[in-house]
Amino acid sequence: MRKLAAGNWKMNGTPAALAELTALVTAHPDPACEMLICPPATLIAQAAWAARGSRLGLGGQDCHASASGAHTGDISAAMLKDAGAAYVILGHSERRADHGETDAQVQAKALAAQAAGLVPIVCVGETEAQRDAGQTLAVIGAQLDGSVPEGATAAGLVVAYEPVWAIGTGRTPTLPQIAEVHAFLRNRLAHRIGPEAAGVRLLYGGSVKPSNAAEIFAVPDVDGALVGGASLKAADFGAIVAALSAA
Ligand code: 13P
Repeated sequence: MRKLAAGNWKMNGTPAALAELTALVTAHPDPACEMLICPPATLIAQAAWAARGSRLGLGGQDCHASASGAHTGDISAAMLKDAGAAYVILGHSERRADHGETDAQVQAKALAAQAAGLVPIVCVGETEAQRDAGQTLAVIGAQLDGSVPEGATAAGLVVAYEPVWAIGTGRTPTLPQIAEVHAFLRNRLAHRIGPEAAGVRLLYGGSVKPSNAAEIFAVPDVDGALVGGASLKAADFGAIVAALSAA
């Protein structure tokens, strides 16, 4: 399994930000892990050009479940693929919260992504209230069951555990808490898709930064990270790529 360091730029970045991509691939021409940036959709084609010939992959941050049609403002998986994306983040908690996305919608998007030749990065995670109420595993299990397409393969799926309360807050779960959730996800996935689950990359996301990356990557069943804020700067994301390459 090739570990994956994925950056989610969220709604940040104009063409000037592509200098960070260039700096990243210059500093890390041949990392031992896979390296991915998911810029805003408006930048994917330019980012693909800036990263041409390098080891950096590109992804989208969402796609529509339909291949085309009357869906003003939306983007299809095939359009992302055509622009140069290989992955697409789906069901991020910000989309679940801002746009009311349900597990069923996330699953439909994941199927559309797979049909277009993209690898979906399906996000799950509990709120702080849910963790405090002891519901973490129940919430994540239901999200996983509802969002992951049946028949997913190891190469055709990535799952990201992103506790909502750890996103952009500087707070992270303890290492045993991360280990508990990742072991649970691996097991639950095995019930859903069988032996392929062993090869699905399970990413941790939520306030990953250069100073905590190595200890998080040492947790069993953590196969990489989905990084928000720290992915915007080549130096920070590069340090995370280096930590994952060394893990
Ligand atoms: P931060 O790394 O900024 O906490 O964001 C995590 C995230 O939401 C990545 O998808």
